Amino acid sequence: MSEAKSVLRTENLGITFGGLKAVQNLNIDIREGELMGLIGPNGAGKTTVFNLLTGVYQPTSGKIFLNDKEIHAKKPHDMVRQGVARTFQNIRLFKELTVLDNVKAAFNGSMKYTTLEGVLRLPRYWKEEAEIDRKSRELLALFGMEGLADNIAANLPYGQQRKLEIARALATNPKILLLDEPAAGMNPTETAELMEAIALIRNKYKLSILLIEHDMSLVMGICERLVVIDYGQVIATGLPAEIAQNKRVIGAYLGE
Ligand SMILES: Nc1ncnc2c1ncn2[C@@H]1O[C@H](COP(=O)(O)OP(=O)(O)OP(=O)(O)O)[C@@H](O)[C@H]1O
Ligand SMILES: [Mg+2]
Repeated sequence: MSEAKSVLRTENLGITFGGLKAVQNLNIDIREGELMGLIGPNGAGKTTVFNLLTGVYQPTSGKIFLNDKEIHAKKPHDMVRQGVARTFQNIRLFKELTVLDNVKAAFNGSMKYTTLEGVLRLPRYWKEEAEIDRKSRELLALFGMEGLADNIAANLPYGQQRKLEIARALATNPKILLLDEPAAGMNPTETAELMEAIALIRNKYKLSILLIEHDMSLVMGICERLVVIDYGQVIATGLPAEIAQNKRVIGAYLGE
């Protein structure tokens, strides 16, 4: 992996809330096509890292580079447009819309027809609508959810809602996908299926993925590299096998 190009990199990234250094001196580098795990105990700062990388929070120190160019993540939608997509620890969907409409709505940013063409239902509108419909169903099929297209999102079981959220993130055509505890609340079978689906998506789309997980054993099997944070700082980076034997990592987890 070492010769692969950097997709998303941070240099001494940090943020302070009042007196609390929630993240400090964070140096991570996710390469092209890499599936990297970001792990650490409760409150370690994992979600805060995502919020920094997606423009939800402005860093108090350090830099962020996308494709080796420094970026200033001002607003989440800017980051989505630049190819950084995420899911949330607490599911965010249009709960009252259908499964299909949830995915179609995420394609919104990529539509080319003008508002007038849309209102007047001109040919380009129909052509793009049909294309978005097709692509949306294709994304649902990735998760075995094509049969659920007409269901209302709120009525889906928890695990399916999580997968729908990932499908929505993929609809924005990202270069890198940030997943915040996508298996939270799933049973072991659903979790195993999801991890398989994540690995498959990475291979199919040659995506880079940064995967937050609380349970270390879950990501060990599918990630090429792991970054472990504790109290807002990186305490270890390396191959899963190295991390599993790292004394500081073991200490951080046992110390919980
Ligand atoms: N907006 C904020 N204002 C103040 N403190 C915050 C804010 N956001 C996060 N924190 C604090 O930063 C620390 C890291 O929180 P964060 O949510 O990033 O942890 P986490 O690793 O995602 O934890 P979990 O495994 O529970 O999801 C915590 O102490 C949290 O209380
Ligand atoms: Mg979190």
